[in-house]
Amino acid sequence: MDKLAIAGGARLDGTVRISGAKNAALPILAAALLTEEPVVIGNVPHLRDVTTTIELLGRMGVEATVHEGMRLEVDAARVTECYAPYDLVRTMRASILVLGPLLGRFGHADVSLPGGCAIGARPVDLHVAGLRAMGAQVVIEDGYIRAQARRLRGAHIVLEQVTVTGTENLMMAAVLADGQTILENAAREPEVIDLAKFLNTIGARVSGAGTNTIVIEGVERLHGGEYNVLPDRIETGTFLVAGAITGGRVRAEGTRPEDIEAVLGKLREAGAGIKTGPDWVELDMQGRRPRAVDISTAPYPGFPTDMQAQFCALNAVAEGVAAVTENVFENRYMHVSELQRMGAVIKLQGHTAIIHGVERLTAAPVMATDLRASAGLVLAGLVADGETVVDRIYHIDRGYECIEEKLQQLGGRIRRLV
Ligand code: UD1
Repeated sequence: MDKLAIAGGARLDGTVRISGAKNAALPILAAALLTEEPVVIGNVPHLRDVTTTIELLGRMGVEATVHEGMRLEVDAARVTECYAPYDLVRTMRASILVLGPLLGRFGHADVSLPGGCAIGARPVDLHVAGLRAMGAQVVIEDGYIRAQARRLRGAHIVLEQVTVTGTENLMMAAVLADGQTILENAAREPEVIDLAKFLNTIGARVSGAGTNTIVIEGVERLHGGEYNVLPDRIETGTFLVAGAITGGRVRAEGTRPEDIEAVLGKLREAGAGIKTGPDWVELDMQGRRPRAVDISTAPYPGFPTDMQAQFCALNAVAEGVAAVTENVFENRYMHVSELQRMGAVIKLQGHTAIIHGVERLTAAPVMATDLRASAGLVLAGLVADGETVVDRIYHIDRGYECIEEKLQQLGGRIRRLV
């Protein structure tokens, strides 16, 4: 199993090119199921979760061709089965995103329940309730969601809780439904907007994405089209924290600063100089040690839960004491015990981690448990004395494209052990 070995102590300095957003590429790939004409999706990141999605679509009969520069041509003209098996869904919860498109276009879908996962129960009850409101018959049996509907009909759905993939699934189901669907308390994440833009590119009529009320006018059919995925705001934030934690300077290019306002605000509070342009962000710590910053996660435009672990690492070596509160997921603190093994002083009190910054962390063998937790451990490794070995990095490969090459370019001393 691959590992990453990181020799701590190098101050990062340089430029990194940001990849396309995983969390936009996955729903957009799933949305390709909605049309019989080919679609071309550009700026797709080369990630395990993308490969898993292509495999999942492939098992349904969808043809995907990779063109130069990670442009993916997806052709769902001949879908042979509307089925997402457990062996794939369990490796990637986002597989649930095929449920809405399959039901919308073909009138039936069998999708395995994702089951428990490392970061809490993460149910999909709101996806199911929304589809039922649109007239679908849904039964849960043998670990599968089995859904049927001759044609979905538009509905007024108030989501009980803000859910990103829930909003996306219902939006995709609604584009081919009969009549108008209104989604209230919808997620406002930039990736939700990106999906809506893609859907409109192929003929859907979606408005309001980016606000908490999304309106979808159902159409009879969709056509083909081309679309480029937006840049990954979480990857951007992670590399900026890498700069901040090492006292260095990092310029992230090919990104959108407006999508990470909450993160940039916290980095400024930590003492970083931040400059932005239309498609770049530059962070300069000028050799300073970061100051502790309190974090409280929330749906967009709040501080993203997907950046929580990285800020735990930052606070672990910061000057002062920070309270980091996780409000989106229960049990998203697996990185805490690993950081403690590296000398971090962290006390967990319910949903809050109280972190007393220490001057130095020390290298230790640590284990990645989920995607963002692993990113937090890599960041801690960058500043720990000695060589930190992070095991089970397949979690990182799910969501970060070439993380070791990109960190090396910035001067990080990191290598992959295979
Ligand atoms: C998405 C992102 C993930 C990010 C998360 C929160 C993708 C592929 N993944 O995950 O990276 O961490 O948003 O920003 O885009 N909930 C329910 N019932 C449901 C659905 C959700 O109770 O039917 C709860 C969840 O348990 C969680 C909260 O709602 O506590 C938010 O989860 P949700 O936004 O759905 O996360 P994902 O869409 O799975």
